[in-house]
Amino acid sequence: MINIGVIGYGYWGPNIVRNLAEVPDANLVKVADFKRDRLDLARRRFPNIQTTTSPLEVINDPAIDAVVIATPLATHFELALSALRSGKHVLVEKPMCSSQQEAAALIDEASARNLVLLVDHTFCYSGAVQKIRELIDGREVGEIYYYDATRINLGLFREDASVLWDLAIHDLSIMDFVLQRYPTAISCTGSCHVPHQPENVAFMTLFFEGALIAHLHVNWLSPVKLRQTLIGGDRRMIVYDDLEANEKVRVHDKGVILATDVEDVHQLRLKGYRSGDVWSPQVDITEPLRTEMVHFVRCIEGREKPLTDALSGLRIISLIEAASESMKMKGIPVEVNQAHAFASQTPYPLSEDLLIPVEVNQLHASTL
Ligand SMILES: NC(=O)c1ccc[n+]([C@@H]2O[C@H](COP(=O)([O-])OP(=O)(O)OC[C@H]3O[C@@H](n4cnc5c(N)ncnc54)[C@H](O)[C@@H]3O)[C@@H](O)[C@H]2O)c1
Repeated sequence: MINIGVIGYGYWGPNIVRNLAEVPDANLVKVADFKRDRLDLARRRFPNIQTTTSPLEVINDPAIDAVVIATPLATHFELALSALRSGKHVLVEKPMCSSQQEAAALIDEASARNLVLLVDHTFCYSGAVQKIRELIDGREVGEIYYYDATRINLGLFREDASVLWDLAIHDLSIMDFVLQRYPTAISCTGSCHVPHQPENVAFMTLFFEGALIAHLHVNWLSPVKLRQTLIGGDRRMIVYDDLEANEKVRVHDKGVILATDVEDVHQLRLKGYRSGDVWSPQVDITEPLRTEMVHFVRCIEGREKPLTDALSGLRIISLIEAASESMKMKGIPVEVNQAHAFASQTPYPLSEDLLIPVEVNQLHASTL
């Protein structure tokens, strides 16, 4: 049985606690939050848990094996580092921390102590995103031409993080997981419409080796809510609509036909369009956070390897940093640090048969 403590019981913390409470092999011991009213709520829902206003009472509790951190971004690094130094396995909310340097320090600490350090890139655990990865891995889409994601709504403004650090992180982590490719450069523009607040709308273009290109649009000031991703390849195209109740993923057997009866490759030209069936594969509807909590416990037990490990956290933070830099220069492309592009292959699919000993974070800060 893995004894777990949770720090932060605001908006997202209760979802983590609710899911953890149902995970076999997990024993939810203690919840910490500065706000007493939040702890009162936690106790009403889970009368058996202990509560405290001190995060250190979770971190230093010898009976606790693992800590989940669901507090605002500015606190992630310090809390995660303290928890690792106290010998706890850690699941930290997205964004993992505020800079590449902080990410590298956490990776080193977890690695030196052989502890699991997982980042909550929740969507990577959804049935829809796992199905898309399966389709891409199975060459159903063929050579990928573009990735185009829109994540907009009239949303909660975060004072501590721009829309890049809050919303784009979801799309970047999904893209990282399904494409298994790392951009070479990023151009990003954005703007803020509330005085003294971080940017609330941003448009990001990501360039890859070859002709693959990606675009993300994130916006807290949209009258409509959209969660849509298009992935186009030379064989098929995928439409992923996370707001769809039943058919979140649709595969379009559509594309262009290039004339191949030419001698010179430079003469290749558009010959026509191919318009075939549209189908929607079955996707697992388990709540992604539930899958993730089960996975976290199995990683601690050594039964699975972290899917959204600290290296994925580092990769995504590097992209956000490059995008933020480009945004300051009104979209001038910024090269992405390639040192940690894909130092470890993300293990997939999750499987109970994968009885591989946990080797956390093989990449150290020194390689940055
Ligand atoms: N994975 C997702 O889909 C998802 C969704 C929402 C939020 N999040 C992430 O979860 C984190 C928390 O977001 P939120 O919306 O719940 O924020 P929130 O402000 O609603 O809640 C944070 C809570 O943490 C408490 N807190 C702050 N610092 C603390 C500390 N040092 N010790 C103990 N308690 C402390 C606050 O009192 C508050 O109750 C953020 O990193 C956010 O990006 C992730």
